[in-house]
Amino acid sequence: MQKPIYLDYNATTPTDPRVIDAMLPYFHHDFGNPANTLNSYGWSAESAVKKASEQVAHLIHCKASDLVWNAGATEGNNSVIFGLIRKLKNENPDEKIHFITSNAEHWSVLNSFKAAEKYEKIEVTYMPVNVEGMISVEELKKHLKPHTKLVSLIWVNNEIGSINPVEELAQVCQENKIYFHTDATQAVGKIDVNLEKTPVHFLTFSAHKFYGPKGVGALYIRSQNPSIHIEPFILGGGHQNNRRSGTLNVPGIVGAGAAAAICEKEMTEDSQRTHDFCVQLYNLLKVNLPGVEINGPTLTHRSPINLSLIMPASIDLFLPALSGLAFSQGSACHTVETSSSHVLSAIGRSPMQASRTIRLSLGRWTNESEILEAARLISNAFKGISGYAYLHDTN
Ligand SMILES: Cc1ncc(COP(=O)(O)O)c(C=O)c1O
Repeated sequence: MQKPIYLDYNATTPTDPRVIDAMLPYFHHDFGNPANTLNSYGWSAESAVKKASEQVAHLIHCKASDLVWNAGATEGNNSVIFGLIRKLKNENPDEKIHFITSNAEHWSVLNSFKAAEKYEKIEVTYMPVNVEGMISVEELKKHLKPHTKLVSLIWVNNEIGSINPVEELAQVCQENKIYFHTDATQAVGKIDVNLEKTPVHFLTFSAHKFYGPKGVGALYIRSQNPSIHIEPFILGGGHQNNRRSGTLNVPGIVGAGAAAAICEKEMTEDSQRTHDFCVQLYNLLKVNLPGVEINGPTLTHRSPINLSLIMPASIDLFLPALSGLAFSQGSACHTVETSSSHVLSAIGRSPMQASRTIRLSLGRWTNESEILEAARLISNAFKGISGYAYLHDTN
């Protein structure tokens, strides 16, 4: 059976075969535990992890030793929020703590903040994003309080592709001596992430969003200007300088490093190509289904891989006609969520518009014939609605 055309790169990406090649030796031949410094198996694993840290550090312009390997962005986001709470409470048990985030964050951030409110009695402000899904510097400044300790804002939105002005937002926090965290899961490997220019204190990501393996990612914790220490979220044998315990997933980490090195070389070209295909797909759909509307920013100011569109009718009714495509409705990261997306509602979309939303996301292996076929399938699926034109076979 032919597989559907994959247009769900925001959900996950296939592991690049070059990444798999880099990982393979670390399953069997070089299988050592990097924590074991007494034999050569451990040494070669340790040096592979070091190389991977350097590859990621090169991509995002940070110090390799500021990266803490983990199981991905969900863990990273939890670690920042709860690690910081533990540190603050430990330093000053009576101090009031206020955190700020937005109402369009990934669930791993939102639910961590909700748990922080419920179990840790932290005061949390959920700032409203604008109609394009972004937070401005002015909006952030309105919500700062004397006891604000952390601001956490997503870099690139996973549902609607909005790009927050992270450099300026981080600057505001730096000026006000507030920690700044960004969930950069949809940014790393897609757009320029440069921590020399962007004064973030914490950054999180997962390798499987940029052609690395699943279940591995990293948390960046700045060690200079200022030097930051948070309490570890996962306790154990004190691995990674006591920042996150547990035997390292060496093949996964090697894969993350290799994926980062490939992105460094190919990202500009990849992102230009996916952006151009997004524009082409949108224009084709617009000809055949003129009522189609974009969620989030215009095509020139959004993630180069994401196209979130409101179709003429509820997607559920057209799933059989769209079975040749693999896509998402809102985000794929929340297992029970279908059409009721908190992000779409945050930008003012109604539940009906949300039920009509289709998230198409493109990647390294998307090609033009897939774009033409996707345009044909989607146009044909909705052709009868409100007298939209029929798009003929492109092949
Ligand atoms: C913006 C964002 N943050 C966090 C995550 C969670 O990543 P993971 O499931 O790899 O932990 C995702 C996954 O889709 C995401 O898109």
